[in-house]
Amino acid sequence: MSLFITFEGIEGCGKTTQARLLYEYLTKTKRLVVLTEEPGGTEIGIKLRKLLLDKDQQNIHPLTELFLYNAVRVQHVMEKLKPLIREGYIVICDRFMDSTFAYQGYGRGIDMDIIKRLDEIARQGLKPDITFLLDIEPEVGLRRHSSIKELDRLERESLEFHRAVRTGYLEIAAQEAERFRIIKAEKPIEEIHALILKEVEKQISKVEGQRSDAEE
Ligand code: TMP
Repeated sequence: MSLFITFEGIEGCGKTTQARLLYEYLTKTKRLVVLTEEPGGTEIGIKLRKLLLDKDQQNIHPLTELFLYNAVRVQHVMEKLKPLIREGYIVICDRFMDSTFAYQGYGRGIDMDIIKRLDEIARQGLKPDITFLLDIEPEVGLRRHSSIKELDRLERESLEFHRAVRTGYLEIAAQEAERFRIIKAEKPIEEIHALILKEVEKQISKVEGQRSDAEE
């Protein structure tokens, strides 16, 4: 049984922690599971991630940035995500397609038609089964983040930029309510983890139910 689960949200929303907790839980239940991220996930993707997040690269044109995120994605989809899903893995991915719409579309203001066209090419038909959007006020998220590490290139963007990204995420989620689960990220970590587990177990039962119906 395969499943493709993604985590989305602005900086400091806690999605990386939640993706890891979910991964650890599913591993203990002896399921085939992989945790990966974007930008990253492959050797090429990791190299491009360094470039994309380098705080000294202030000169990247918004379209160059868009192409690079899509370059990371197509490599990830073809080299890793599709093969794993074909083999029956549950794949958990920290950021995927929605980050591009939220950051490059709503944040940078790139024409959505351009983003859509590249997105179709980059994903090669792959789409998450379930996406957790950890929603948080940008002021709170950025404060959380800046207290734990040095800020990278995108984290240095203005509060206005992150507000636009957050609004974008909420609009995307409203357009695809079936796929999205919006979670208030100010809640305690354990409470959020429990909510996520409940949703994932529900989804697993649904997929397993569909599979046994098909086998009958
Ligand atoms: P991370 O630190 O959560 O791994 O994300 C890296 C940064 O890259 C984060 O600021 C969001 C940004 N990003 C985009 O702008 N577009 C994208 O398509 C992706 C995947 C990430």
